[in-house]
Amino acid sequence: MFKKALAGIGAGALLFGLAACGGGDGGSDGGDDGSLVIGFAQVGAESAWRTANSKSVQDAAEAAGHTLKFNDAQQDQEKQIEAVRGFINQQVDVIVLAPVVETGWTDVLQEAEDAGIPVVLADRGVEAADEDLYVTRLGSDFAEEGRKAGAWAAETFAADADGTKILELQGTTGSAPANDRKSGFFEVLDAEGLNYEIVDSQSGNFTAEEGKAVMETFITTHGLDGIDLLYAHNDEMGLGAIQAIEEAGKVPGQDIQIIIVDGSKAGFQAGVDGKVNYIVECNPAFGPQLMEVVEAVAAGETPEKFTPVEEGVFDATQFEAELPNRQF
Ligand code: AHR
Repeated sequence: MFKKALAGIGAGALLFGLAACGGGDGGSDGGDDGSLVIGFAQVGAESAWRTANSKSVQDAAEAAGHTLKFNDAQQDQEKQIEAVRGFINQQVDVIVLAPVVETGWTDVLQEAEDAGIPVVLADRGVEAADEDLYVTRLGSDFAEEGRKAGAWAAETFAADADGTKILELQGTTGSAPANDRKSGFFEVLDAEGLNYEIVDSQSGNFTAEEGKAVMETFITTHGLDGIDLLYAHNDEMGLGAIQAIEEAGKVPGQDIQIIIVDGSKAGFQAGVDGKVNYIVECNPAFGPQLMEVVEAVAAGETPEKFTPVEEGVFDATQFEAELPNRQF
């Protein structure tokens, strides 16, 4: 285990040793001043959340005086694996990985460990079987986000004697937020004893275009009459779905209630316009906190296995006041 190896020989010495060996031979060029070379394998640029997250990490790395090697994998796991391998070859000091999906990481994480390069997960997680192959994860508690959405739905539709009819727009298939936002949501509906039916549930891959297309298919297949609630796993898919609902001649937020997750400016504006009923915040602005974690890991410390970022929830009474505060 990397951690065990580090515990024995001193992570800081090893990592800064690698940094010092870098420079001219294509290896890490982290400095003697403690500055690091960080490889960041980002998911892509599929949403306003993602763009804000990339900027937060890039700005924080620059402010901390570290060199950030940034890779946008365009939501493609193979590209992300290649990026991680590239960072290993470059002998960066720390690899930050935001894994697009939860499975399929064992080999490349093992390669990083064999090379003595610690991996910090940012945002999304990997399957439990790979837990020993990364040091720590900083990001959202996606299951808790799902539970927050479920708590609002259970309360809002508690008196719906006919049974609440739900459409679900899931995020990228196999990704941690799609898996956990789903499980957390339905866990609470079941715990609260809500009488509900999942009329349909498909992936919109976290993008507005696919969210709209899937919603159009939902409408063609099921119509919208009698549908009570759309649960969209992020703002983009919710906003795409709103377009499809309007094009079908229905009123989003009224004919069908809508929950979205993220809390972008565009999402809040839709709330102010009465088209969204509940927003579960997912916070992308953890760049500064990530730098602290990366520095701690490079210094041989072992942070908690998971550090959740702070996030809130917002209903219709709060949208207008909150909109000016949104940063992305
Ligand atoms: O992993 C976080 C999720 O990824 C955000 O909710 C979504 O907008 C992004 O694509």
